[in-house]
Amino acid sequence: MFLSAAARSVLSQAARQVRRLHRSAARAGAGGIFVHRDTPENNPDTPFEFTEQNKKRIEAILSMYPEGHKQAATIPVLDLAQRQHGWLPISAMNKVAEVLGVAPMRVYEVATFYTMFLRQPVGKYFIQICTTTPCMLCNSDSILEAIQNKLGIKVGETTPDKMFTLIEVECLGACVNAPMVQINDNYYEDLAPKDIENIIDELKAGRIPPPGPRSGRFSCEPAGGLTSLTGPPTGPGFGVRSDL
Ligand code: FES
Repeated sequence: MFLSAAARSVLSQAARQVRRLHRSAARAGAGGIFVHRDTPENNPDTPFEFTEQNKKRIEAILSMYPEGHKQAATIPVLDLAQRQHGWLPISAMNKVAEVLGVAPMRVYEVATFYTMFLRQPVGKYFIQICTTTPCMLCNSDSILEAIQNKLGIKVGETTPDKMFTLIEVECLGACVNAPMVQINDNYYEDLAPKDIENIIDELKAGRIPPPGPRSGRFSCEPAGGLTSLTGPPTGPGFGVRSDL
């Protein structure tokens, strides 16, 4: 097909634009690569065994599913393995397959699909910053910049002391409290740059700051105050005609 020089120029600009839109750094954890490659720290011989306490937890989890349906417990058992080890080496996935009595591929399929499963080591505090549209409109860029400046790392990197890993993620479902980050299991919301700096300082000092909004909001009530239900309820009789 013949393309004029002008058309080629437009297509080339469009291609550059697409690359800009998709330039997010590779996830440090689950989505970075979908193919496993053996490394010294992540190979089938990487030591992994469930603790006695977690073996009991697995028994309790499996008891919730009918006989012959152990595979349904793949996600909770993978989650248990990750919480025990900090991330999921392939040896942990193989152990989960053994416990569930399924082919290892059935477990790999799940672990590579869900981004909550981390197939590479991460720092003690795993910071996931949401930069999807509502958070972006509430200036998540300033939060990202504050984190990067404070920790001296970029998206996809871990601090040299292995304390913090930073990744950029899509919507975490707390848009009404944008901008926000998730650190391990906690959501920190309604953030300003100084808030995230304080949170990082607290974590560095060995304290877990209370999760939730930093704006003074209790939860996700209107940021500008209530616009309805501002007076006492009028009771069930209000508005009922007395002649009925
Ligand atoms: S867009 Fe950030 S939580 Fe939804």
